[in-house]
Amino acid sequence: MIDQYKRSIDYMRISITDRCNLRCTYCMPEDVEKLEHESILTYEEILRICKSASSLGIRKIKITGGEPMVRKDAVKLMANIKAIPGIEFVTLTTNGVLLEEHVEELAKIPLDGVNVSLDTLNTDTFKKITRRDEFLKVWNGIQKLIEAGIPTKINCVPQKGVNEEELMDIAELAVKYPVDVRFIEMMPIGYGKEFEPIKGEEIKSRIEAKYPNVVSQKKRRGFGPAEYITSNEWMGNIGFISAISHKFCSSCNRVRLTSKGFLKSCLCYGDGIDLMEALRSGASDEELTSLLSKAIEKKPLEHNFERHTHGSNSQVQDQDNMEKSEM
Ligand code: GTP
Ligand code: 5AD
Ligand code: SF4
Repeated sequence: MIDQYKRSIDYMRISITDRCNLRCTYCMPEDVEKLEHESILTYEEILRICKSASSLGIRKIKITGGEPMVRKDAVKLMANIKAIPGIEFVTLTTNGVLLEEHVEELAKIPLDGVNVSLDTLNTDTFKKITRRDEFLKVWNGIQKLIEAGIPTKINCVPQKGVNEEELMDIAELAVKYPVDVRFIEMMPIGYGKEFEPIKGEEIKSRIEAKYPNVVSQKKRRGFGPAEYITSNEWMGNIGFISAISHKFCSSCNRVRLTSKGFLKSCLCYGDGIDLMEALRSGASDEELTSLLSKAIEKKPLEHNFERHTHGSNSQVQDQDNMEKSEM
């Protein structure tokens, strides 16, 4: 479907839970209120929305959270979404803690890719960032994904004074393994506002200084906003998602569905349209599709992060309405 600014929208990000088994400091506090089961979409409701979205031209579905793998039967849901006519790609973004035991089932779907968040290779720093001691599980999960041949991306959010010194080691995972390592610029949403970001350009220059024969990767890798570099000597690629320093809104292809059932046409505007309310009050398939279509059509031109500045000191419960833990 084409929106009011002539962008083709074919990607829906679905947060299937607000819950998480980690507590990354830039994402949520230690004590976080959980939503009740009744206030999040059931799998049947999610599947209805996916069918309706597919009829409007959504072809790619990203399953995310919170941590999607903490919700029971998440793998079954992914398989059922993949079976919907018109849906071509289903991918997962996860913190990796529960991956190891599910890789085989994921490969059977077959899932089209898994993005694993990993900000450090050091167990102590992992504990500091996530407030949990789970580094080894994540690492083993990544190894299993590679062995199973599932396209794997590693998401790293660089943080001044936290993982700054090991960014080159993390980047070099793409030299040694067939994975894409992406550096995601910290966005000033929720607790992310309290951190000083490191620009993608800065990391790229450091990599280019050590590997002078890198080239920009022209082949498309996934369907997200990352820009990649690579070298013949590397097994993988290194990408940069720089929402602040290189706004990519003009080519944005996505809408997002929150676990509470709101369809948001952009990361940082309002609540979106309440699809749960519509579904639970008996909306027909036509009515549901019409609601979705209106929301996509009205997608705003660009994010307004400029409004939220970094370091603005714990103004985390502000009016931006981003469901803080739902990325
Ligand atoms: P694929 O490459 O297709 O897997 O997509 P992706 O890179 O979007 O997936 P992932 O879930 O790994 O998201 C990586 C990061 O991209 C997120 O943490 C966000 O920082 C950023 N991102 C994803 N969607 C949006 C969006 O709608 N707006 C902005 N500004 N950033 C986004
Ligand atoms: N800025 C940038 N990335 C973030 N993530 C979570 N919060 C932020 C933020 N404020 C990342 C996670 C995960 C991805 C889905 O989003 O590390 O890799
Ligand atoms: Fe959990 Fe991801 Fe938030 Fe970390 S960033 S607390 S892994 S949802």
